[in-house]
Amino acid sequence: MTTFTARLGDRSLFPHLEARVYLNHGGISAPSVAVQAAVNEVLDDYARRGGAAFLRWNEQRTRLKGKLGALIGVAGSDIALLPNTTRGVIDVALCFPWSPGDRVILFQGEFPANITPWQRAAATFGIELCFLPLDEWNRDVEAGLASLSRELDKGARLVAVSAVQFQTGLRMPLAEITRRAHARGAQVFVDAVQACGAVPVDAGAAHVDYLACGSHKWLMGLEGCGFVYVHPSRVAALRPNTAGWLSHEEGLRFLFEGPGHLRYDRPIKQTVDFLEGGNYNTAGLAGLEASLDLIQQLSVPAIHEHVNAYLDVLEAGLVARGFQSLRSADARYRSCTLSLLPPPGVSVVDLQRQLGDRGVACALPDGVLRFTPHWPNNAAEIPFVLDSIDQILAALPAR
Ligand SMILES: Cc1ncc(COP(=O)(O)O)c(C=O)c1O
Repeated sequence: MTTFTARLGDRSLFPHLEARVYLNHGGISAPSVAVQAAVNEVLDDYARRGGAAFLRWNEQRTRLKGKLGALIGVAGSDIALLPNTTRGVIDVALCFPWSPGDRVILFQGEFPANITPWQRAAATFGIELCFLPLDEWNRDVEAGLASLSRELDKGARLVAVSAVQFQTGLRMPLAEITRRAHARGAQVFVDAVQACGAVPVDAGAAHVDYLACGSHKWLMGLEGCGFVYVHPSRVAALRPNTAGWLSHEEGLRFLFEGPGHLRYDRPIKQTVDFLEGGNYNTAGLAGLEASLDLIQQLSVPAIHEHVNAYLDVLEAGLVARGFQSLRSADARYRSCTLSLLPPPGVSVVDLQRQLGDRGVACALPDGVLRFTPHWPNNAAEIPFVLDSIDQILAALPAR
């Protein structure tokens, strides 16, 4: 097995990437050659051995859980592997031990993945959803926290929030949110897909109850795999409403031990992996481990610092050109995302498309221009990005 070495600001592990400047890791990351090699290894193994390969990759999953646990400051045994972030939200929303009339606090402006499953839970279990506006948090995090406390005082079972907001890049104060929620008897669910891999997340230290994350953004893996963490003290209370055949204790015996073991009444596991109800995306999970190894070589705090040094320069250049930055002025609330509103009269759709045509990949979630560099990006790219913007703006009809 080849060992790959990651270096901050060096994209030589991404030799196939066509974009000259890739600034869309908050959307979908390109797989490195390390990820490609890991995926190929799985495919080669199954191609040779078929089902006999299963046990080897079962071990890989246990190892991966340990590494994911280390990433977010929890034990690997408290992590279940799932197809995506959304699946983690769905599982907790449908398995939570609701009582009719329970209140859930959500945020207006969140990515819909962290809304729809709570809406389904509301329709199914008769719970109530309360939305707090994120605008207030964007202006003043302390004011946002004060509003949250007032809402919690009315009584709530759960707060569901993203670690980093997908549109503005605001890094939410998870430890403080959790402290306030727990003090009033509420639990906290975190969608961490815009954070894990580039922004430090310590779910253990922050006493987060539930956390879900997918692999294709800042973890730089592929689409179709992710994980959920459930605090060990919360697992037993979950109702197994999304259980499947792999959720049972000793659920594999009937496949290996001869007749008489096919039963449907085996107890559901009392560990978080009861949420892994069926088979796995083995190739995707191997890719995730490979990308995680590169991230851990560099360390998340070092990546965060590297990316923010990049964003400092890019932000200054764009603000000088009339863009309005949505990045927090307070370093505590910064992630690895820089979102901006273009100068008045400039269409963000045209701008993003024309940047793409010139080889600068970025995103436009709900109308903001979003740049999301990661460890392979190098500040030497920034003059090209700014020159491209200058040329695009200069070619626009007079405003
Ligand atoms: C904050 C946030 N949550 C969830 C998702 C969706 O994640 P997944 O496709 O892994 O469910 C996205 C983006 O795609 C996102 O930005």
